[in-house]
Amino acid sequence: RRLKSGPFKPIIALEMGPGSGIIITFLAKNIAPHIACFASDINSHASYCTRKTSLENGVAVEVTTDNLIGSFQKRLHNKVDILIFNPPYVVTPSAEVGTYDLSASWAGGVNGREVSN
Ligand SMILES: C[S@@+](CC[C@H](N)C(=O)[O-])C[C@H]1O[C@@H](n2cnc3c(N)ncnc32)[C@H](O)[C@@H]1O
Repeated sequence: RRLKSGPFKPIIALEMGPGSGIIITFLAKNIAPHIACFASDINSHASYCTRKTSLENGVAVEVTTDNLIGSFQKRLHNKVDILIFNPPYVVTPSAEVGTYDLSASWAGGVNGREVSN
């Protein structure tokens, strides 16, 4: 948090769509080892990978399978200091957006912006 008297001191990080989990794990391990990390992916296989990546690297990341912030919404409301999202951005028909499988990693719908908007 940015305090008048000091530097930015993040306490909570949340990644939406972590995929393999490498980004939130890298953050937790190398950049900000003192902060609480959360992640939520719409694809349960990705959530599993994120959990595994974090555990194999010895860091704690609380992971859920959910749409965007999902069940963290209430708990972390106004508390997230670092929000990470590398959204699916490939231009596709709208019908391809919102799946729970591998195509969720790329399908961005009209202009590739339907998930990020
Ligand atoms: C472009 S990949 C990024 C993966 C990883 N963060 C990276 O940068 O290597 C997009 C990720 O977002 C997830 N995703 C897509 N739509 C989502 C949504 N509505 N809510 C949560 N995750 C979503 C996909 O399953 C996929 O893991």
